[in-house]
Formats: sequence, C-alpha cells, structure tokens
Amino acid sequence: MDILVIGGGGREHAICWSLSKSPKADKIYCAPGNAGIAQVAECVPIGVFEFDKLAAFAKEKEVGLVVVGPDDPLAAGIVDVLEAEGLKVFGPRKNAAEIEGSKAFMKDLLHKYNIPTAAYRKFTDYTEASAYLKEQALPIVIKADGLAAGKGVTVAYSREEAEKALEDMMVSRVFGESGSQVVIEEFLAGQEMSILAFVDGETVRPMPAAQDHKPVFDGDKGPNTGGMGTYSPLPHIDDAIIQKAIETIVEPTAKAMVSEGRPFRGVLFAGLMISPDGTPKTVEFNARFGDPETQVVLPRLKSDLLEIFLAAVDGRLDEIEIEWSDEAAVCVVLASQGYPGSYPKGVPIAGLDEAGREGLVFHAGTALGPDGGIVTSGGRVLGVVGLGAGIAEARDAAYANAGRISFDGKQNRTDIAAKALL
Ligand code: AMP
Ligand code: GLY
Repeated sequence: MDILVIGGGGREHAICWSLSKSPKADKIYCAPGNAGIAQVAECVPIGVFEFDKLAAFAKEKEVGLVVVGPDDPLAAGIVDVLEAEGLKVFGPRKNAAEIEGSKAFMKDLLHKYNIPTAAYRKFTDYTEASAYLKEQALPIVIKADGLAAGKGVTVAYSREEAEKALEDMMVSRVFGESGSQVVIEEFLAGQEMSILAFVDGETVRPMPAAQDHKPVFDGDKGPNTGGMGTYSPLPHIDDAIIQKAIETIVEPTAKAMVSEGRPFRGVLFAGLMISPDGTPKTVEFNARFGDPETQVVLPRLKSDLLEIFLAAVDGRLDEIEIEWSDEAAVCVVLASQGYPGSYPKGVPIAGLDEAGREGLVFHAGTALGPDGGIVTSGGRVLGVVGLGAGIAEARDAAYANAGRISFDGKQNRTDIAAKALL
C-alpha cells in the first residue's frame, strides 16, 4: 500500500520512519516533508493547507491511506475534505478536532461530563474578562481560545503579567481570531505528563506516557516553545496514576465525544497535571501526535504502525494487539539561535551522517542547501533520540549523539529528562 503523510516536522519524520518499517508499506509520500524525511519517503512540494491539491495527488497516486500530522489543517477540516474525495484518512474530522481547536469547547465538554480539569470561566468581552481577572488569586492562567502555535497560554504570577496577557489576546489580538474568546482558569500545581492514545470512537489504546519540556532554557526558564525535548517512560510516576488518568480522563473523554456526535478517530493527546496527592487533571487536549512526544513514543512501538492506523480507520482498533518495548527513549531538540523568537535559516549542519549511524536523528526544520548539503530551515532543527535500558542510558546516548552534530548558533537544553533521575 502507498501512503501519504501530511506535514514536515520531526513528528512527521518519526511517523514516516515508523511506517517505513511496515512490511505492508510500499511507497511513502510526505507533503511537504523535509530533508530528513526525504531519506525514508518521497517529499512532495504541496503545503498542508492546499487541501484540493493534496486530494488530487492522493487520488492520482491511489494511496491506500492518508495520515495527517499537524493541528492546524485538522482544525480547518482537512479530514472532511479528503474523505469527501473517497480517501481513507487517519485523523479526526473537523468537529472532533475542535477538542484542540477551541479551549472553550474542550472545557465545556469536560465540565458537562464531570471529567477532572481546572475550574474556569470563558469570555468574549474584554471588559468582563478584565473585571473577573482582577478578583482572581495568583498565579492565574489565561488562554486564547484558538490555536496559537503553542504560545496562547500564559501562566501569570503577577497582576501586570496577567493583565498584559489578556490585553495582548483580546485587544491587540496578537494571536488573531484565536483571541476573540479567552479562558481564564485556575492554576494547577504538580507534575506534568502527557498520554497519547490511538482512539476510534469509544476504543482507547494508550501509548506509553511521555513528558515534554516547553520552556526554551534549562530549569524551565525562558519563553515557551513547541517543545525542547521529551522522554518516555516516566519512571518517577506510578503506573497506578497513569492508569487512573486513562480511566478518569482519556476514556471518558472519548466516550463524551461519541455522545456529542463527534466521535474522535486519530491520536488523542491528553496534557495532564498530577496534583501532589496523585490526582490527574486535564490541562489540555490535542487532536494529533505531539511534537516531540512522537519522537520518543514511536521508537518504543514494537507493533506495525500502519496496521494500527488502518485498524483505527476501519473501526477495529479493539481487535488488534499493540506491543511496546521496555526500552527508554530520550529526545533532545537542537534549535536555531534565537528560537522561539526570530532565527536565521540556511545554516549548514555538520555531523549528520555520523550521528545517523550512531542513533536516531529526526529532522524538524531542515532543507537541502544550494550545494546539496543539509541546512537549517526552522526554529527546531533536529530531534536527537537516544535509546537505552533506562532513562539514564537513553539520556547519555541522546546527548552523546547530539554532540556529534554542529551548526552555527545551535542551542539545546542540557537538562532533558533530568527530573526523571532525581
Ligand atoms: P497548553 O498549551 O494548554 O498545553 O499550556 C501550555 C503549558 O501551560 C502547559 O504545558 C502547562 O505547563 C501550563 N498550563 C496550562 N494550563 C495550566 C494550569 N491550569 N495550571 C498550571 N499550568 C498550566
Ligand atoms: N509537544 C507539545 C505539542 O505537540 O503540542
């Protein structure tokens, strides 16, 4: 079977790499892909929002499956468009992707079905929001309703910070229409954890838990990014707590979506906070694989990813076995100087061949340079993954391999997974 994967980041590289191991996978196309993805798939220069072109390409090539990576085309209804053209697609339809596309929708859903999450109020009027905000205790959390490239959330520790965040979102509209509605919610203290699950209607097949590092600098300092590194499993979190999160949050949410007439099919990604007493609460839902969570979860998958995707699309996810390895995985993101602010592009990267022989290197933002060498083309450039018997070993492998790669302005956190080793 030929497959089309849509997207061009580290997540899509990991998906293409995993699919390429399937005996059933013939040709893999990736639109638009990147220089690393080109090693396992044929990159096609079509953008993720060019729905008509993507549909025409998939039909012309008679692909058996389309897999959608990123959030924004999902929220814009790419799955509905491709399905209307008779294509088989792994990913949620627009009405199910809203669980990520609108925080107000997500909060109302959880509230209606009594699924644990932070207390909240939603606002479309700035004056009302501002008056409410003034009465709240600190810290307080302010969220733009819509997608904002992972930057639409402010955890404010001071009044000034809180007021500025609200004004930026609702008045200055720094996130555009995403700020026409905001959610103001209670601050949750505790440990963060992500659970991704393959979901088809009420059937939930969880993947091993993972943990991201959102702030750009060591010690969780500096502005938030798309994610600077991940690890899986989480040895410092009890299996019983992970099980509780699945039973009290992920499964009831999948059920709730079915009850609402918005059955979810794809990867449901729960961002959770574990309170000090061990109770998991929902921070957010995403309607897709995480980036860079995928880079540590898929290398641990022993089963055939293509079989899982096809089972989900055909509504028989409950019938298949999914096996995971006990190995640990750590991903260290190498980013461009200046990220998450502005950064240069086209910087030559050295050491990729050697690093590729030693371990897994997923490309996030790379391109072919004018002389045929690989150059940077994004804020997050590479995700270097180490595997090992435990987190310590995986972490050493990831950092050793990250050290083999160099480019001008390369920046990375040096404390990925350190929390797991305390
Ligand atoms: P989100 O984009 O919703 O994942 O939020 C980004 C980050 O903000 C999360 O990973 C948390 O670290 C933090 N965050 C969001 N909501 C809350 C909350 N209610 N309490 C504490 N931290 C939060
Ligand atoms: N790594 C966080 C995300 O994919 O949203």
